Amino acid sequence: MSIDIVLRGLGRYVPEKTLTNAALEKIVDTSDEWIFTRTGIRVRHIASEEQNTSDLAVEAARQALANANMEAEELTHIVVGTFTPDAMVPSCACVVEEKLGIKGRAVYDIAAACSGFLYALENARAILALHPEARVLVIGAETVTRRINFEDRTTCVLFGDGAGAAVLTRDGEGPKVLDVKLSSDGSLGRLLTVNGGGSCSSYSRPGEPIREDYFVQMEGREIFKHAVRSMTGVCNEILEDNGRTRHDIDVLIPHQANWRIIDAVGRKFDVPPEKVYSNVDRYGNTSAASIPLALSEAVDNDFVKDGDLVLLTSFGGGFTWASALLQF
Ligand code: UT7
Repeated sequence: MSIDIVLRGLGRYVPEKTLTNAALEKIVDTSDEWIFTRTGIRVRHIASEEQNTSDLAVEAARQALANANMEAEELTHIVVGTFTPDAMVPSCACVVEEKLGIKGRAVYDIAAACSGFLYALENARAILALHPEARVLVIGAETVTRRINFEDRTTCVLFGDGAGAAVLTRDGEGPKVLDVKLSSDGSLGRLLTVNGGGSCSSYSRPGEPIREDYFVQMEGREIFKHAVRSMTGVCNEILEDNGRTRHDIDVLIPHQANWRIIDAVGRKFDVPPEKVYSNVDRYGNTSAASIPLALSEAVDNDFVKDGDLVLLTSFGGGFTWASALLQF
């Protein structure tokens, strides 16, 4: 079943504190030159000790609500894509609901790592198909740096914290979400893991060192190949299913993990660099927050214009990957 849903408002938030490549040079054996040429990243934002994922999420949510001219009270559902919730229980969505001062809504988290926002967006479409009057808040929010080993140079230079949010309804004015495609391959999950805290990894006792599996561990080079291949595949699928071709794409917003990945996806579709949005230089890889952070920014700075067909695509741990087609 295909329905058009309306993107009523977008919002985003990144913590104030930043971590530059120069600062990382003092922590691990790396260089600004290596990080920038291999990833395109210059700086990333880091949550303060007082900030949890829900705090970032709530800031983005308030902005999305303001842009939608709506009050939190009007929301019926909250779906949060995250792999770094404040706690295993309660869900990040429950904490966000409480911080927005509402209760009694249907709220839950979605675990799809970097694809969390697009998975949550598809969930919003399903909710709105069942409940046409619903007002759904979809959030991608992460404090990835809490799960980063700052002694591991192969991961610690890549990630940052942030949040992005969208309010979706069936009625009202705004860009339309034309379609969303989701996919996955669990057999490749071992290539990107955070096992610590899960049932496969027993807890540490007080005084024991934190084990490495508490942090993000990944096979970067393998992931790179799969990311380009999978995002290209799922973009082709959504274009074909919607009777569009690569020539119809006005703006492409791939997951912001690495400029070389973003560029490679753009090249596969012959989308010129000036039509491919990237902010990876300023935020690094913010996982589930990456797509809504980029989309919200691209709209605010007029990179996306009225009438544009916008193609979003993400790839993350699981593996999971996804695409979405938006008509502005
Ligand atoms: O959101 C989904 C999650 N993850 C991703 O999307 C990540 C996808 N992968 C990537 O972005 C890239 O594979 C990386 C940026 C992680 C790595 O780039 P690469 O060009 O694939 O480098 P590499 O892993 O092949 O490493 C090349 C060299 C190695 O040294 P040797 O073995 O050739 O001597 C690494 O040890 O670079 C070394 N290296 C570093 N050197 C300086 C790895 N990390 C660093 C570093 N600084 N931070």
